Amino acid sequence: MQTILITGGAGFIGSHLTRLFVTKYPDYHIVNLDNLTYAGNLENLKDIESSSNYEFVKGDIADLDFLTTLFTKYNFTGVLHCAAESHVDRSITDPLAFVTTNVVGTVSLLQAAKEHWKGNMEGKMFYHISTDEVYGSLGAEGFFYENTSYDPRSPYSASKASSDHFVRAFHHTYHLPIKISNCSNNYGPFHFPEKLIPLCIHNIIHNKPLPIYGKGENVRDWLYVEDHVRAIDTIFHKGKVGETYNIGGHNEWTNIDLIKELCKQMDVKLARPAGTSAQLITFVKDRAGHDLRYAIDATKLETELGWTPSLQFEEGLSKTIDWYLSNNEWLANVTSGNYQKYYEGMYGGEES
Ligand code: NAD
Ligand code: DAU
Repeated sequence: MQTILITGGAGFIGSHLTRLFVTKYPDYHIVNLDNLTYAGNLENLKDIESSSNYEFVKGDIADLDFLTTLFTKYNFTGVLHCAAESHVDRSITDPLAFVTTNVVGTVSLLQAAKEHWKGNMEGKMFYHISTDEVYGSLGAEGFFYENTSYDPRSPYSASKASSDHFVRAFHHTYHLPIKISNCSNNYGPFHFPEKLIPLCIHNIIHNKPLPIYGKGENVRDWLYVEDHVRAIDTIFHKGKVGETYNIGGHNEWTNIDLIKELCKQMDVKLARPAGTSAQLITFVKDRAGHDLRYAIDATKLETELGWTPSLQFEEGLSKTIDWYLSNNEWLANVTSGNYQKYYEGMYGGEES
């Protein structure tokens, strides 16, 4: 019997991960700890909220006393640590919030797990979900490997890199059983519309400008979110203790090409004349310190553990658009209130 703590389970990736574990492993007890920031939304878990093996707890991963009590109450056998401040642009505006959640929060969780599991680490697992951004920025050639040196360049990636280092330090110093995965850009349902793809889907629906930073030449490696959480499941159950695994989609797109593909698909789905959505593309001031290119080499995960991405990007994007078009209410809810203020601060115009 496993009792697993998932942190950040009300967020984008966390909600897909929670859904997978709750439905695939009815014998596991899953506790979702989330303090419901702007990015956390219990609507993301509506379909599984009454499952008998699922519980939600509201709380802060940076509150060690609270975590200590939680570990005592539930006697967790595993942790899947997803909670984070996750948006690069917000980290440029407010770096300290990223240190508090991503660094202090992660170290607090590590500390609570280490103390609770002290003297009996057998069968326990602290799995840290991280990002390819810790490796820095690539030029036109090359890939990120598991042994690529860390070179974080935004406050967000610096905070994630720091948290990765602490996870490894707890493994080496206290023998805490850990695993880390570093994944490329995710997309799919429940993605908060501050990130490129859902922001542009939302703006196309409302005929608003599509803000492309710089010349749109930056490259990201996109992976469908359900493929990411399937990889986490595989690594959690089959990966080697103490190891790091890269996760990626072999799917590089410049931002401008990606948005053109999105516009093309949206025109068809919204029955608008071809070329309508692309007219909304607007080049805006570049992101400070904007990393040029990310590209993951996921050979280790593919050859050692047999994971491969299941979807072609065009198909995944089509599924994603369909989800947003049939979940108007979700989109309207998350873009009301504080989102308006955020949007105005970032892009200088009122959001519809
Ligand atoms: P998200 O912003 O959608 O969700 C984060 C969740 O964490 C939210 O539910 C939020 O309420 C919760 N949270 C934030 N601070 C908390 C705190 N102090 N205590 C408890 N809960 C808190 O993020 P996401 O995009 O789903 O990313 C999840 C993880 O995956 C992050 O660690 C991120 O670094 C990593 N990651 C994301 C991507 C991506 O493309 N989105 C890619 C690779 C790795
Ligand atoms: O690589 C993994 C990372 O991917 C995760 O660790 C992060 O949590 C996640 O947010 C994501 O980071 P990015 O900065 O790559 O994602 P974002 O969607 O913010 O931006 C994708 C690209 O699009 C990036 O080059 C910046 C650009 N962009 C973004 C926004 C929001 C624009 O051109 N315009 C925009 O309005």
